Amino acid sequence: MARITAGVTTSHVPAIGAALDLDNDTTEYWAPVFAGYKWSQEWIAEERPDVVILVFNDHASAFSLEMIPTFAIGCADEFPIADEGFGPRPVPTVLGHPGLACHLAQSLILDEFDMTVINQMAVDHGLSVPMSLMFGRTDAWPVRVVPIAVNVVQFPPPTGERCFKLGQAIRRAVQSYPEDLSVQVWGTGGMSHQLQGPRAGLINQPFDNAFLDHMTGDTSYLRSISHIEYLREAGSEGIELVMWLVMRGALGENPIELQRFYHVPASNTAVGHLVLTASK
Ligand code: DHB
Ligand code: FE
Repeated sequence: MARITAGVTTSHVPAIGAALDLDNDTTEYWAPVFAGYKWSQEWIAEERPDVVILVFNDHASAFSLEMIPTFAIGCADEFPIADEGFGPRPVPTVLGHPGLACHLAQSLILDEFDMTVINQMAVDHGLSVPMSLMFGRTDAWPVRVVPIAVNVVQFPPPTGERCFKLGQAIRRAVQSYPEDLSVQVWGTGGMSHQLQGPRAGLINQPFDNAFLDHMTGDTSYLRSISHIEYLREAGSEGIELVMWLVMRGALGENPIELQRFYHVPASNTAVGHLVLTASK
């Protein structure tokens, strides 16, 4: 049977991808950011998961404002890298796992999560930057990916509680897939940041650290954070943190923190990163 072995969360700042692609990752500004992922790169090279269910948000790259699914799942064989204005990032095409993805779509929809099925999608920095942070520069990603896109760009996004429950449903779905697969669930985005308006540049370190603290143990605080609290405390883009709750819901009770990294700033964002192992 397939099983969820671990979870990863990380910010997905596009400038991190640009720093790697332009060979700026060893500069004084960027070296401390990449240092925070060294342990995780070594860990994942040993773990060798078969599939990553990668929960991210599209930033109006694949979906225009004409159509915005709340929850969507990528069932394609492969996902090209999106052109976000400077040409696609020079990183490998992302290979999917249509077998697991179609099983997840069926299981989640029958479990009352009305997923949009995606058969063609280019993936933007929300997905490619976490891949680069975890796997570094490579000619071929060493893992298959099932992308799950969550709307956090157009009000109303789903609640954190709903995202946590989606994670729980993902756990049930993976555990009913007959193939013997080691599956990780990742949640990207966050931490506190605001990209526009009078509060542009907002970072709230006490809020971020409390969020990191609560990712293990009792989740009731995280699940109760309302949209207005995200906006007030973590800035307009802090709502991306609801995607971390999908990962947390998928890990079951009492996951163990293996790695934590927090760094301010990277571009406009407080970078946060966790590696958790799933309970049995
Ligand atoms: C930044 C962060 C994001 O999560 C994003 O999607 C775009 C930009 C930033 O910090 O610049
Ligand atoms: Fe983002």
